[in-house]
Amino acid sequence: MLKVIRYASLALLLALGVLWGHAWFTRAPGQGVGEAFAQRLAAVFGQSMPVPTAGGGVQLPSGVSLGGAFSLVRQDGQAVTERDYAGRWSLIYFGYTYCPDVCPTELGRIADVLDAMGPAGERVTPIMITIDPARDTVAVMADYVSRFHPRMQGLTGTPEQVAEAARRFRVFYQRVQPRDMADYLMDHSSFIYLVGPDGRVRTLFRPETGVEEMARSVAAQMRSAGG
Ligand code: NI
Repeated sequence: MLKVIRYASLALLLALGVLWGHAWFTRAPGQGVGEAFAQRLAAVFGQSMPVPTAGGGVQLPSGVSLGGAFSLVRQDGQAVTERDYAGRWSLIYFGYTYCPDVCPTELGRIADVLDAMGPAGERVTPIMITIDPARDTVAVMADYVSRFHPRMQGLTGTPEQVAEAARRFRVFYQRVQPRDMADYLMDHSSFIYLVGPDGRVRTLFRPETGVEEMARSVAAQMRSAGG
């Protein structure tokens, strides 16, 4: 019995060591190894982290449900909830209009995916939800989303409404103030969510996923769901 415990703890130590090493090698520039390690640890033991699969997307492990109820304001000033999107597919991205690089790239990618899908893409609603409601007013959102796709919707709300929506999708975001800049930036997780007609997330796409790959994956999920 003691031997079993000894081997088990040795295996656990070994696993943690490997994870630490992985964190050391793969941490972002400027990120502390401790912080990177905590992230990897959360990725292994946390319920919130999805499991990568083939086919361009990340399949959610069974029992994990993302998405659901939210209450926000659309770029035309209309209050909307998840019920307004019931029965339709959508590609949702959480970002902010002041984002210097990642957000515009991802929103452009969503537009490219819809184009690549042809007529089937018309049944998918592109949606951006801001995680910076202080600056992203309805008017700012209206101007911003129209630059990416004519059908793109931009949702904002009170800080509480945005926090609740982000919580449903397990989106991380945090205000950061660079020393050499007057304006603050937002640190945020960056996934494109494919949401089904029931309001639940079917797949997450990582930023590095190619347009064609994503288009194929979305179309396949719509087909397999019978619509
Ligand atoms: Ni961004």
